Amino acid sequence: MVTTNQEKAISYKSAQLKEDIHPILYQRWSPRIFADKPITDQHLRQLFEALRWAPSSMNEQPWRILYTRNGSDIFNEIFNCLSEFNQSWVKNASVLLLTAYKEKFDNGKENFHALHDLGLGIANLTFQAQHHLIAVHQMAGVDWQKAHEVFQIPEGYHVTTAVALGYYGGELSALPNDLIEKETAKRKRKAMEEIVLEDKFPI
Ligand SMILES: Cc1cc2nc3c(=O)[nH]c(=O)nc-3n(C[C@H](O)[C@H](O)[C@H](O)COP(=O)(O)O)c2cc1C
Repeated sequence: MVTTNQEKAISYKSAQLKEDIHPILYQRWSPRIFADKPITDQHLRQLFEALRWAPSSMNEQPWRILYTRNGSDIFNEIFNCLSEFNQSWVKNASVLLLTAYKEKFDNGKENFHALHDLGLGIANLTFQAQHHLIAVHQMAGVDWQKAHEVFQIPEGYHVTTAVALGYYGGELSALPNDLIEKETAKRKRKAMEEIVLEDKFPI
């Protein structure tokens, strides 16, 4: 069932479109507040199934994901690896992920596209999440070297992001004042001509 809060959350930051695109794309955004309810096991499994079916170079599937629920010791350990900024809002996420990619193919050759493919996997997860009104907020602000130590990540894998997940529909009052402004700000994008051109490289 879609609650009023969830409906509000996916409509008030909806993208200002130049062309018609799928609602799952234009309604997605990255909130820093989440509804106060845990993500169901079934929804989590669907998110990871969506990730599993993403395309990847040579079908290597270099993505590796550690996930944890709010309240666990591991949640606190990931929290402690986050930047101060991210720590200021991430507390009410239902689930945290630590994402990583495997640097080499099984044949030992460098997989130049592993980082790209991890991004594709997380994109799949993000759009499946949107289908369930689960918001996904990716974070580069994670001390990956600390995460390697804390989680004893073996050589050959590279921690890339932390990701906060939770149902849309959180309360703005959960945020410090400076973040309320960001949370309600209009979303911005580059003009199409800045990023896509026919017959000419866009710079
Ligand atoms: C790889 C990646 C890293 C990001 N890192 C952070 C971060 O550390 N902290 C944060 O608050 N948001 C972070 N974001 C969220 C972006 O700021 C956000 O996606 C961007 O402003 C566009 O907004 P939208 O997702 O609502 O469309 C990150 C997003 C991505 C994809």
